[in-house]
Formats: sequence, C-alpha cells, structure tokens
Amino acid sequence: MTELQFPEGFVWGAATAAYQIEGGAHEGGRGESIWDRFSHTPGKVSHGDTGDVACDHFHRYAGDVAMMRELGLGAYRFSVAWPRVQPSGKGPPHPAGLDFYSRLVDALLEAGIAPMATLYHWDLPQALQDEGGFASRDVAGWFADYAGVVARALGDRLRWIVTLNEPQIFGLFGYVVGTHAPGVQDFVGYPRVAHHINLAHGEAVRAVRAERARLPVGIAMQTPPMHPRSASAEDAAAARRFDAFFNRYFLDPVLLGAYPPELLELLSPLGVRYPEEDLAVIAQPLDFVGVNNYTRYFVRHHPETPLLEALADEHHRIDGARYTDMGWEIRPDALGEVLDRLRADYGNPVVYVTENGAAFADPVADGQVHDADRVAFLRGYLARLHRAIADGARVRGYFVWSWLDNFEWAHGYSKRFGLVHVDYPTQRRTPKDSARWYAEVARRNALSP
Ligand code: FCB
Repeated sequence: MTELQFPEGFVWGAATAAYQIEGGAHEGGRGESIWDRFSHTPGKVSHGDTGDVACDHFHRYAGDVAMMRELGLGAYRFSVAWPRVQPSGKGPPHPAGLDFYSRLVDALLEAGIAPMATLYHWDLPQALQDEGGFASRDVAGWFADYAGVVARALGDRLRWIVTLNEPQIFGLFGYVVGTHAPGVQDFVGYPRVAHHINLAHGEAVRAVRAERARLPVGIAMQTPPMHPRSASAEDAAAARRFDAFFNRYFLDPVLLGAYPPELLELLSPLGVRYPEEDLAVIAQPLDFVGVNNYTRYFVRHHPETPLLEALADEHHRIDGARYTDMGWEIRPDALGEVLDRLRADYGNPVVYVTENGAAFADPVADGQVHDADRVAFLRGYLARLHRAIADGARVRGYFVWSWLDNFEWAHGYSKRFGLVHVDYPTQRRTPKDSARWYAEVARRNALSP
C-alpha cells in the first residue's frame, strides 16, 4: 500500500456533545434538559450514571483546548446546550450561558482550531418537553429563535454551524423506542414528530442565515446502509421499507424537498398528510451535509411489527466479522456506501464526516493506553473515505467521535470512544496511542502504509 494523500485543506477534527462532556449541570443558571430528567429516572441509564459532572469540561475547557492544540487538532465540533442559553427554552438569552461558549470559541481560535457548533445534540429544555417537545409543531419556532440567538452571539467566530444531530436517532429512540430521552413510546405519534424535526431544521437554517448570511450551515445525519438479513425477496423489501422510514424520512425532504412515495404509502393507514408549503421550508439549500457513520444495520421481514423489528436486528452478528465494544460491526464500507449514495442520489453535496469512531475497553497501564484496535478502526474507515473521494465524493473534512471518553447516553460511562482517556474520579486526561497516531495523520494530511 502506498501513502494515501488527502486533498489540500482537508479538515482533521474531533467531536463531542454538551451533555456528554460538560457537567456543570446546575451552574451558570443552566435549565433542566430532557437528558437530566431521563438520566435521573431510575433504570434509564446503566449504573444510574448521569451527566451532572461528566468530564467536567465546563470547568476544564481551557485545559482541554490546550491539549487539542498540543495534539495538532485542526477543528473541533462541540454542541451548544440549549438550556444554558435559554434555561426554559424560550425568551431572552441567558448571558452566562452564552458567555461559556463565547470563551470556548475564543480559546479554540487562539489555538488555531476551527470551531464547528451543533445547535441541538439532544438536550432539549425540559420546559419545552412539558409542552410536547418535538410532538408540538411549535418546536420549529422555538428552535429557530434559539438558533438565531446562537448565530448572533457566536456566528462571527464559528467556521460552521450544524442544526440538528441525527434526526433519525433522537426521533426514533426518543419518541418511539423510548431508550433515549424523553423516553416516549408512541409509534402513532411519530409521523408528527419526524415532520416537526424536519421543519425545525428548515426554520433554523433560515434563522441562522438571517443573522449570518455567510456562515456555512449543515445538518448531521446518521443514515446507515440497510442490508437485508437474507437473500429472500421479503427481506429485501423490508430493508427498502426501513431505509425509507429511518433514513429517507429526513434525507429526502431536507435534500430533495419531498417525502419518499414509499414512505407516504407506508404511513397512509395512519392518515398522515404533510402540507406542501412545509416542504419548501424544510428544503433550504445547505452548505454541507454532515455524515455520522459507525456501521450498517440488518433488516428482516417481520409481518407483525414491520418497522420496529428492523431495529431489533441492529445487533445481528455474522461469522468472521469484528465488533466494537458497542456490539457494532466494524465495516468501513458502511461509510463508503453512505458517501457513494449522497454522491449518486442526492446531488453530490459537500460533505463533512461529522462523526466516526469506536468504543473499546481501553485500560490504562503505566500512564498509557495502547488502543491498537481503535487505530486499526480509524485506518480502515479513512482508507475507505479516501476511495470515496477518489470516486468523486466532495468530502472536505473528518471528525473522530470522540475527543474525550464521555457519557454514552443510555450506556453511561461504560463505553469509551475517546482519543483521550478520562479517569472519571480524578478527571485525569491521558491521550491514547490513537490520539498521537491521528495527530500524525493530520500533520501529514495522509494515511501512511
Ligand atoms: C451518535 C451520537 C453521539 C455518540 C455516538 C457514539 O449516535 O451522535 O453523541 O453517542 O453515536
């Protein structure tokens, strides 16, 4: 293998999200979020873990940025906690909340690290959930106001802004499956939720542009390839259906301005109809699409629970494959398929891979973490990404999930995704071997053999 050189100016970054790392849950006037409520509800998160302290990044951000600089990170994707900025989700911004992000952004710029801010990485103000959350159409207006506030306060210094992180995941797992906040289980209500998510995205893009016309805006999608579990025609049809329900529910309206006919047919027994005017709002032209990818899904035909059964097969194991600590199959071609699809079916948008990475056990020994499995994972996915670019995909950058080990939602602190190890009792940070390896890739802008 020869060295794989990446295009000039390719961005090398890492990502986190507010609730997963910040802590400081009751500081600076921060309001309650649905993830505070959910994680404090017994039985929802493994070991009863919460984000109250997490990586204490709220207090340690300056040291964290200094470490990013030392390790040569080119860009950093973080998220803004809506309940820090608007504690009850509405009304005038809370200065202390905005100030935290303003200081973070300044520290990043001073360190030569390009900031990418995600507006919504799942921590909805609880007060808005009490009014229905994404089940209420009002969420589009609430979110647009908040987006405008953040764009006004930080938009002069951000390099990119992302509206929503993974509509697919927080929509379905938060409002149908119930394993993520707010823990609602309402299949029949989902078509409204999904549409309001799309609408909130479109309104937020408009609000950001009204404040900062030149700030690049995108959305981060997790749209894994849906593979049939067997060669049967039923499974193939089920995989296409689930692809429409899970992936195209968001990809198509946002990028093509229409819901897929297969999906509308699936939803027609529920009496779902979407106003045409909404689609014009949803399909705002974007500057880039964020791709979050970890693996593929398997789908099996199941007559009684046609759509949800597909999720049960997420952890289907196959002989000869390797898996991460999440039980996710290591499959670089999953990322490749997503990138190829955006190029072929969605007009070849500019793309940033906004999340990709792996959880492994990562023990610390003598102050070091030899995470060869993570290095191998990243190498495999980056090589496949390189090929997608050679095939014509317009990928401009890549962000590892994650910069730090952190609160992995319903798994709590039991899963470690970081390039940097966190010892939670002492908050000691230890860069893993993968952090140094990644720094070298970034420095050379190339993957060595
Ligand atoms: C994604 C989330 C991110 C992290 C990774 C492992 O779905 O966006 O916050 O939990 O999975």
